[in-house]
Amino acid sequence: MRKIMVANPKGGCGKSTLSVHIASWFARHDEIVYLGDLDRQQSSRHWLEARPENLATIKHWDISADEFKLPPKHCNVAILDTPAGLHGKRLKEVLNEVDKVVVPVSSSRFDMLATREFFEELAATKAVRKERVDIGVVGMRVDVRTHAYAQLLEFLKEFDLPVVTCIAQSQRYLQAADTGVTIFDNDLNSTAVDIQWRPLLNWLVSRH
Ligand SMILES: Nc1ncnc2c1ncn2[C@@H]1O[C@H](COP(=O)(O)OP(=O)(O)OP(=O)(O)O)[C@@H](O)[C@H]1O
Ligand SMILES: [Mg+2]
Repeated sequence: MRKIMVANPKGGCGKSTLSVHIASWFARHDEIVYLGDLDRQQSSRHWLEARPENLATIKHWDISADEFKLPPKHCNVAILDTPAGLHGKRLKEVLNEVDKVVVPVSSSRFDMLATREFFEELAATKAVRKERVDIGVVGMRVDVRTHAYAQLLEFLKEFDLPVVTCIAQSQRYLQAADTGVTIFDNDLNSTAVDIQWRPLLNWLVSRH
């Protein structure tokens, strides 16, 4: 079972957007996908409720904020969306259970500063030090042609972490949040998928 966590303690940086898109991409490739949410607000569950039934199935991973419980054994891909503010003991517990951590970061200076502590905390965690878990950064709402992208790269140099890809700002992600339909449900092979998403998807399936 692949276990992927999407995390960044900064609110609104794109964790849920990434989580539901990763879930739907695997589901479109006939994997048995469970999507969970450590957020008490259960935004992923609400998103799943809005999802039309005729689309590729994504199951709800029933996980509470207090207890970590893996999805059923027949699950191939487990994706865990996490709330803003996740850190400390709780973060460590979850890091012990997953293989990959995707960290969405915007190129806003404030967001980068807010993410600094999180990267420092990650780096100090045993699972990361022992290389049991891979960390990949995704520039969210970042256009690679801009100065903002250069700034993001400069910021990340300090942590020696890969920027796996950048996802540009687009209305389509706002629509996905409202309708339960992702860009992969509409078109699995668009140019945007190839250029922006493919590196992340390849990284997610790459072996540790
Ligand atoms: N690439 C993008 N282009 C346009 N809008 C985006 C993009 N990524 C995210 N958004 C929008 O930004 C808002 C915040 O994104 P999202 O809910 O995914 O963040 P989050 O990190 O899960 O927030 P929270 O910390 O509150 O859980 C949403 O309205 C989402 O649709
Ligand atoms: Mg969220």
